[in-house]
Parts: sequence; C-alpha cells; structure tokens
Amino acid sequence: MPESDTAHRSSADRAARPLAVVSNREPYLHSLAEDGTVSWSPTTGGVAVALDALMHERGGVWIAHGAGDADRLVVDAHDRVSVPPDAPSYPLRRIWLTEAEEHHYYEGFANEGLWPLCHVAHVKPIFRAEDWRAYQAVNERFARAVEEELPDPAAPVFIQDYHLTLVARHLRALRPDVRIALFWHIPFPHPDQLRICPYRREILEGLVASDLVAFQLERDRRNFLAAARTELGAKVSRSRVYFQNRSTTVYAVPIGVDFDRIQAVTHGPELEAEKERLRRELRIDTPLVGIGVDRLDYTKGIPERLDALDRLFTRRPELRRQLTFVQVAVPSRSKLESYAAVEGDIDQRVAAINARHAGDGLAGGPIRYRKSALRIRRLVALYRLADFCIVSSLHDGMNLVAKEFVAAREDLDGVLVLSEFAGAAQELGDAVIINPYDVGGFADGLEQALDMALEERQRRMRALRRVVAGRDVVQWASDILEGLEHLDPRSMPAPPGSAPRKAPSDTRIVSTSSPTAGR
Ligand code: G6P
Repeated sequence: MPESDTAHRSSADRAARPLAVVSNREPYLHSLAEDGTVSWSPTTGGVAVALDALMHERGGVWIAHGAGDADRLVVDAHDRVSVPPDAPSYPLRRIWLTEAEEHHYYEGFANEGLWPLCHVAHVKPIFRAEDWRAYQAVNERFARAVEEELPDPAAPVFIQDYHLTLVARHLRALRPDVRIALFWHIPFPHPDQLRICPYRREILEGLVASDLVAFQLERDRRNFLAAARTELGAKVSRSRVYFQNRSTTVYAVPIGVDFDRIQAVTHGPELEAEKERLRRELRIDTPLVGIGVDRLDYTKGIPERLDALDRLFTRRPELRRQLTFVQVAVPSRSKLESYAAVEGDIDQRVAAINARHAGDGLAGGPIRYRKSALRIRRLVALYRLADFCIVSSLHDGMNLVAKEFVAAREDLDGVLVLSEFAGAAQELGDAVIINPYDVGGFADGLEQALDMALEERQRRMRALRRVVAGRDVVQWASDILEGLEHLDPRSMPAPPGSAPRKAPSDTRIVSTSSPTAGR
C-alpha cells in the first residue's frame, strides 16, 4: 500500500474511534407528565448540541448526571438509555445523585463557588467545606463510571467543563494509560482571582492529570499556565505544564456552532410559516424587531440590556410604534439566590419599561418577555425575524447565541450587537461591539444597528459568516481530539529537575490571539 494510503487510513481509523464524553448536564432528559406519560427533550444550549453532534459522528458513550424526573424509568439494568430517543445512535450512561449531592456538588461548589469565581460579574463566590466534600465524592463517582464504560482501552475521554475538574486524576489512578482531554468552556480566572478558592491547588492538580486541557481564549490559557506555575510550582513552557513526572498540553480552541444543521433549518420549507407563527404568538406588529436569547444568568447582562433599550426608547420615542424587542430567557439554576435575584430584577425592569413606553393607545409596551426554551426550528425562525440580536454578557467564555445568530442569517441581513466581554468578540469584530456597563454607549450601538444601511449590514454579516462557517463545532472537536491523538506518549514525562521540553509544533490546533475587539 502506498505510504499516502496508509497515512490516510490511519487518520480515518482515528476519526472512527469511539469516544467517552463526560459532562454534568445530559444531552437528553426524560420527564413525567401529570397523566403519567414519559416524554423527552434535548438539552438546549450550545455545548450539549455541539457534543451531541460529535457523538453522532464518532459513536461511543456519554456519561452524565441523570437529572430528569423520569430518567430512571427508561434506563436498562446498567443505567443506560439509547439516545436520541427517537433515533437511537449512542448510549447515555446516567449517574444518579442524591438531593444532598446535587445541592452541594452542583448548586453549591460548581455554581455558587466556581461559576462566580470564573466570571467577573460581581457575584461573590461561596466556598463551603461540605460542598467541596460532595464535589470530590461526585467527581470520583463519575471517574469510576467512565472506567466501567470505556468503549475500548484506546478510546479517548473528553471531559466537559468546571463541574468535573477532579475526574481525570481519579481516572488516571484506575487506568494510567487512558488519553484524556478536558475542555474548559467558561473563562479561566486570573491567578489573583483564583486565590479566593481555598481548594485551588487540588483543582489545578486535577486538571493537569489530563493529557490536554483546552480553553476558549488565549487569555484563559495564559491564566491557567500562570496559575499552574504559581500555585503548583509546576514548570511551564509556551503550551505545556510539567508536573510530577507528567506533562499536560494546554491550548486555546474556541468552540463553534453546528453551522450545517442551522443552515439546513433555514432551508426548510417551514421557515416562513414558523416566522409568521412567532409574529402572531408574540403579538409583533411593528416593522422592526430586536431579540435577545439567553440562559437566565446574571453573567448575561440582561438588566444592562434593558437599561440600554429604555434609553433608546426615551431618546427616540417614535420607536415605540416601530420596534418590538423579544427577550427569551431560559430559567436556569433557579434554586440559587443569585439567580432568583436576577430573575426578579429582570421581571421588574421589563414591567417598568413596558409601562413607561406604552401609552398613546399602545397596548402592552415594546418588550415581549418569554421565560422558556425554544426548539431549534423556532429559534432559527426567531433569529431570522430579527433586525438585530443583542448579546450583552458581562463576562462569557464564548457565547454561542452570537454564532448561532450569524449561522442563521444566510439572507445576509440582521445586525449582531455584541459585548466586548463575550469570548465571541475576539473573533466577531464585525459585530457592533458594545460595553454593557456604558448605558449611553450601548444605546448608541443600538441606534447604529437600527440606522445601518443595507449594504453595510450585508458587508458585516458576510464577514461574520466567513468566521463562523470556517470554525464550526466539527472543527473545534477535531482540533481537540486530533491534538490528543497526536501527543507523543514518549514525550510526556519530564525527567525530574530537567528543563521544560520544547512545545510540539502541532499546527492543527489554532490558538487564537485577539485580532479584533479589545479585551
Ligand atoms: C454553561 C456551562 C455548561 C452548562 C451550561 C448550562 O454553558 O459552561 O457546562 O452545562 O452553562 O448550565 P446548567 O447548569 O443548566 O448545566
């Protein structure tokens, strides 16, 4: 066989190798209706959709917390269920948590501790010893389940996010040779901020037990390397951490969206009808439409967005008759005080703006507020209905809504108004970039979006689409997985006391710097 064929076949073999994905949030959830019937729904949100696409392509097993109230009713004796439920493609192994474990591990340590620690959104991180104990125990349980489920000894393990920082360490103790990558989806804090966490050293040790740790942005990668050096005393080179006789490769690999799937929806025969249904349901009778689509989270800058809209309607009262703003917010982590507080704040602001800018025979005011998730077809129709889409995060790892909006705009219209503090701003410099803390500047940005000429809108959207199509979710996943496959096992351990080895010249991984919006 010619050498090129061999090379081709080995890369095809690699592509076909099944995978173990591990995440807290499951991709499909089963729930029980009042009449006792079981229904299911896919998890909305960019990451779950992205990893699901990856599982369809590669096969393997997905291990996640079974959080649905009917999840236990549909699993087999090994706690597995085939998903998607309507067209089974791969097994989902569910991990069961007690109420106390969920409270301390998920709500407490992950979401009252690590989440605010990693996001500059002025919510104080809370670290409690009992949360930490539960977090450790649950991470160990996840590791044991991965070990049981590994489809084959060479199958790579892909760990998703900050809930599971200790899994690699436990798994490596059980299976020293397993190949592990972890993707850190959210911002990684500066070492000064990380010091708030009393358990930072254990978390960093857990992370460097992976062979590869990937972040969204170059900034996150640099923060992690600096923390490994200062907190662990590890040797650090440009893209590796050397600690306790092993090395970990560290890259920045920004996540993308499933561009083709979104395109396919825009080509569907239902798009126009779906847009009309949305118009009717949301009572939209204005020529202009703005939208925001978010998880209901204090990091998303929804109150700041409402303030800017308030300013806009005050500056240009004629817009009250011309513009409807649709805010879709998907309730999230609602048991936590910090989330209940932002939800209450948004409710009040929406009511106040609607009261202030209604009148003159206008019923209801200009804001339509929906607190529920939309399935992909409706979501894409909403994206296509919009003259502008606002993403105003106070701090965000990436923000996939920004990229989804662009992917849906094959018509080359619509303006993206994007916070400079969303990771996506690093790549999407042709959006109208705003600072959510500057209410006047934010309102200027909205005016700029509304007044922009068609030619300019098209020029910007064309440029944005080139970026989003060029780095979709398949590219993201294969960058991480191929990076993992290509690590040379012989180069991994660093002899004690030796100088750091030179970083590999693996050019398939793209490490983004900041070509555009300043952060
Ligand atoms: C962020 C996190 C994900 C998480 C998602 C939804 O995007 O990075 O890991 O799954 O939010 O949050 P939830 O708490 O509902 O899983």
